Amino acid sequence: MSIVTCIAPVNIAVIKYWGKRDEDLILPINDSISLSLDTQQLCTKTTVMASPNFKENKIWLNGREESINNKRLQNCLEKIKSKATLTNEMEMWKVHICSNNNFPTAAGLASSAAGYACLTAALAKLYNFTGDISEIARTGSGSACRSVFGGFVRWYMGSDPTGVDSIAKQIAPASHWPEMRIIILVVNDVSKKIPSAVGMKTSVQTSELIKYRAEVCVPKRVELMQKAIIQKNFKQFAELTMRDSNQMHAVCLDTYPPCNYLTDTSHAIIDLISSYNDASNSIKVAYTNDAGPNTVLYLLEENVPHVLGLIDYFFPPNETSNNNYKRGNPPASISPSKDLLEKLNCKKQQEGSIKYIIHTRVGEGPTYLDDPSEHLLNNSGLPKDL
Ligand code: DP6
Repeated sequence: MSIVTCIAPVNIAVIKYWGKRDEDLILPINDSISLSLDTQQLCTKTTVMASPNFKENKIWLNGREESINNKRLQNCLEKIKSKATLTNEMEMWKVHICSNNNFPTAAGLASSAAGYACLTAALAKLYNFTGDISEIARTGSGSACRSVFGGFVRWYMGSDPTGVDSIAKQIAPASHWPEMRIIILVVNDVSKKIPSAVGMKTSVQTSELIKYRAEVCVPKRVELMQKAIIQKNFKQFAELTMRDSNQMHAVCLDTYPPCNYLTDTSHAIIDLISSYNDASNSIKVAYTNDAGPNTVLYLLEENVPHVLGLIDYFFPPNETSNNNYKRGNPPASISPSKDLLEKLNCKKQQEGSIKYIIHTRVGEGPTYLDDPSEHLLNNSGLPKDL
């Protein structure tokens, strides 16, 4: 038998992927750029095991057995087997897969990207495949192709109908911009979600704005963003990030029926950040939202205490928030001055509108864990924690 365990990061896009030109192969209508986040705070861990004793392929996700016949899962499994050079024996062996997130899946934090990147990286090692794995991860979930690298990553949309050139490449490693910080504001929300795959499909079918975005705006923006990252130009990086998030959500509203991913709390956070940047006469923080109400802030290390102070003031936690409210060892907050509060035209929000906060940084790509105690499957191929 053969066993591999791997962890892989979540990524948050600063130039968004929104819309496919091929639903089956998961080919996008534009390039996108993201930052992979430190796996210490957010990651997926996956163990894959192949054995002549297994009767069928099986998968357990976050402690529950799920169907292996999921199309996206099959895409990844089949694609990697067809690309790897397998011995006849290995070809016949079935696989068991066990995968867990180190963060609550229900929080809506892009878990499929980390999940498929991790699965693909683990299978690549299991089958001794050393080629590009971003193309394979992409067939599980589009944004997953960016999580196969750490640091700053660009997904090239490509033009080949087979998808061979729709791959991700690293722009710069995490160490390139060590001052970059990320604050994730997990918003309290109970509304029904439109999955991103459904939302973007409806956008491609019904939005007129999406064509202009993909053909005119994003091609310019990806080049500017790549340059801003290479030059560590925070102002340019932040402005492009906010403009691109705004535009993705404008496309979502231009979709019919509309996809309304932002809640009152998300809008209140966006207003606060915009007022703060205005009052500072410079861009200190960027906000961005994916297909949900959680708002992610990008900022430089020196501004973290001030921004946390603003969040504490305008979005006070409620009494039930415990010492797990701020995660990832953030520095102590600095309360906003009276002068700043007067300049900001913002209202205090209801207590508890933010569920919790994660402070993190840019991190590495998939990492293999060789210590057998890290494996999620036991010697019989069953989850250790069942
Ligand atoms: C809003 O990668 O989840 O997060 O390819 O259908 O699995 P599928 O979609 P997915 O879409 C993510 C969209 C986004 C923006 C982004 O990450 O670029």
